[in-house]
Amino acid sequence: MQGIRESKAASGALALLLTLAGMFLSEGGALLAQSAAKQVAVPLPPMGWSSWNSFSNTIDSQIVMDQAKAMVSTGMAKDGYKYINIDEGWWLGARDAEGNIVVDGKAWPAIAPGEKPGDMANIVRYIHGLGLKAGIYTDAGKDGCGTVAPDLGPGYPNEGSENHYEQDFLQFANWGFDYVKVDWCGGDKENLDPAVQYAEIARAIARAEQITGHRLYFSICNWGKNSPWTWAPGVGGVTADIWRTGGDIVAPIVANTKNSDRRAELKEVFREFDEANHPEAQHTGFYNDPDMMVVGMPGLTDQQNRVHMALWAMSGGPLLVGADLTKLSDASLAALTNPAVLAIDQDALGLQAVKVAEVGKGLEVWSKALSKSGQRAVLLLNRTAEAAPISVTRADLTLLDSSASNVTNLWSGKHLGPLVASYPVPVPANDALLLLVQGKEAKVSTYKPAAGGPGRKVAFTYVSATHSMARVQIIYANLDKTTRFAELRVNGCIATRIALPPTGTTVGTVTIQSLLDRSGASNVLEFSPTGDPGPVIQSISIQ
Ligand code: GLA
Repeated sequence: MQGIRESKAASGALALLLTLAGMFLSEGGALLAQSAAKQVAVPLPPMGWSSWNSFSNTIDSQIVMDQAKAMVSTGMAKDGYKYINIDEGWWLGARDAEGNIVVDGKAWPAIAPGEKPGDMANIVRYIHGLGLKAGIYTDAGKDGCGTVAPDLGPGYPNEGSENHYEQDFLQFANWGFDYVKVDWCGGDKENLDPAVQYAEIARAIARAEQITGHRLYFSICNWGKNSPWTWAPGVGGVTADIWRTGGDIVAPIVANTKNSDRRAELKEVFREFDEANHPEAQHTGFYNDPDMMVVGMPGLTDQQNRVHMALWAMSGGPLLVGADLTKLSDASLAALTNPAVLAIDQDALGLQAVKVAEVGKGLEVWSKALSKSGQRAVLLLNRTAEAAPISVTRADLTLLDSSASNVTNLWSGKHLGPLVASYPVPVPANDALLLLVQGKEAKVSTYKPAAGGPGRKVAFTYVSATHSMARVQIIYANLDKTTRFAELRVNGCIATRIALPPTGTTVGTVTIQSLLDRSGASNVLEFSPTGDPGPVIQSISIQ
């Protein structure tokens, strides 16, 4: 009986999809639907603080409370920083006879009357009480980094969640945590397959969410091993996640310990930025994670802090501060909270910047497409030891050549005049200029599917692009109440999982970037939707 009812409901939805699809596929109708299509909101990259860079495994309840208070008193919370993430060192691997995590009650005491020591719900309540969100940490293997590579303090075994995925992630959700970072020291030691383990963890998170009704944001930390940008977007069915793309930007610098004279370095900031550059994987709520920031930590000058911040905003990934928030200088705080710079990171399209020109060795032009039509964030980056001019053209930015374009310095808000044919500006050594360019969009080409049908695999053939990393706007309908997915293969070889949130009974759009590296009109994009009925991909527009 139930099967019949279900299939009736499904066929009703399918009929509506067919109607929509028919409407879309009729000539002029397609254009009409497309111009009416609205961008569908996608989850934005998380902003917050993480304990590791400045506290290593000395982390405890008092430190977390002080940092959470500082997040509010510095004004960072109202600028959008909301996660207080407890990294490694909070738990020393002990479990009770039922396998439940046992936490040291001295490091994590009662905070309010009636609370029990050793209950992590205490610190979560405190963080939530300040209007912030709380993050926790574990490892995908049996051991964690505290066993494999202890930083301060003794090594301790069994500090991972393997064989306890369902139990631990349910515990994190029950404690009230909103975010979980899952490291890979133990998984790596056991030679596990990260794509398999992290998919299983995603399913444990989904189960915990179902049981508790509490959402846990998923942060994958396997330092780029096995190319997570190829499997981490939407892994195990998550609708939002981040994945680390490289190692640690710096080993922890902890005041008054043997680690206190370590220093952050700009070259490491550049390395992490470069390793995170996978624009084809970053879209629809899935983000490359270039690591927690070192802005405000010992080692970088104020000018280098601004370069670092500009790079992370252009990368469009998570903004997680690693500095001690109680000790930020005014200049560091200003670098972390400039609203125009934060808006670049948090732009609603959710894309990553692309390197669009290299005018000389180490003289680079990066462009991040923003949700407002004709708007680009542009970074003129001079990695060399000499000041040098860097120029950018409207063609580099896929803007219409004949249109007027206005340029604004994003840090100062100063208007710099129009972008005429090209824009040669001197950029100091090891520095960068962060600009907002407003122009008019260059021509967009729209394609309809060559084959396929509603809810089935669709192929777009004979597709050409002016830039090899092309912007692809997907016009689709997902009548369901939940996010659906489509697997995209480009030219038969690159796959990524795209999230297609509900659109109601109309069409919507999301934007991705794809490597269309075949010359002429010879690229092929194949979308395989999942779900029954799956989303309808009506058309794509390429720029
Ligand atoms: C790894 C991660 C870091 C941090 C430490 C904790 O090195 O990459 O971000 O979580 O483990 O030990």
